Amino acid sequence: MSKKVLLSGVRPSGKPHIGNYFGALKQFVDLQDQYEAYIMIADYHALDFVQNGKDMKQNIMNVLLDYLAVGLDPKKVTIFKQSDVSEHTELARIFETITTMPYLMRAHAFKDAEAKNKDLSVGVFNYPMLMAADILLYSPDIVPVGADQKQHIEIARDTAEKFNRIFGDTFKLPEPLIMKEVATVPGTDGRKMSKSYGNTIPLFAEYEEIKKCVMSIVTDSAGGFPKNVFEIHKLLRPEDELKKIYEEKAGKYKELKEMLIEDLEKFIAPLREKRKEFEKDIPKALEILKAGGEKAKKISGPKMDEVREKVGVKLY
Ligand code: TYM
Repeated sequence: MSKKVLLSGVRPSGKPHIGNYFGALKQFVDLQDQYEAYIMIADYHALDFVQNGKDMKQNIMNVLLDYLAVGLDPKKVTIFKQSDVSEHTELARIFETITTMPYLMRAHAFKDAEAKNKDLSVGVFNYPMLMAADILLYSPDIVPVGADQKQHIEIARDTAEKFNRIFGDTFKLPEPLIMKEVATVPGTDGRKMSKSYGNTIPLFAEYEEIKKCVMSIVTDSAGGFPKNVFEIHKLLRPEDELKKIYEEKAGKYKELKEMLIEDLEKFIAPLREKRKEFEKDIPKALEILKAGGEKAKKISGPKMDEVREKVGVKLY
């Protein structure tokens, strides 16, 4: 029996943080044996925010090395770059023609972005169309993501249904896989950990950086219980064990933070070392990425041909 299919991706828009890891990357690694997995570097999604060629190249390389360092095995997983597979942008164009503006205006991500910046690009507005194309080309059974991506997957499902209704059965409806305990990893200020809030703990932080991030965690909680420290700490230790420690050390915020620093260092240090090993052979990493793009095209190419046939533009 053939394996079920998994697809997901990360935007190369800066340093990945432990929220990306626990919310998404860890699931990719844990599921790579069980599923036929396609893991993407969503570079055209990052282009909405990163508009400097040098930075973009660096960010793409960073995500690639991060994928390898956290343990994605290129023998099991197809690691590829979105821009290497032109079918993604082609299909997004077709989806844009069957989707209305009022529908996309209801997306949370659009509303949030609009609240921050009125001069939004068309790219940001159309973001869910490209993401729907990313997903639907590979007919995945599951899409592991953090909670902030749930609506995007619902949009992909709606888009698949609409296309199927207009042009005939073509796309399989994907399911999100969102791990409850890590659906929204909080940042150092208690809000969702996010690059745009500046409240992250980078996944490959050096010891001094970990220290700085943890010391900056906001601890104005009542009753001697530093909730913001605890919520991050529980990613690294069983909750029951941790609760006892936090009760014993009630009010001793500095000691608890020091313990979190040590636990983070224990978790991050081996990842950091692995990443440094991969950094020594960039040509090999690039080969992996190139081969992944070629493999991804073997799936997306025939699917796109089917779509061209259905919409009636395929004449030969
Ligand atoms: P991105 O690059 O913003 O984030 C990558 C993954 O990390 C998850 N995540 C979190 N999970 C828990 N707690 C947090 N604080 C946290 N912050 C981020 C995100 O939910 C995501 O799973 N649009 C996507 C990239 C993408 C994609 C796709 C994903 C493009 N095409 C197709 C899946 C399928 C994004 O911007 O993720």
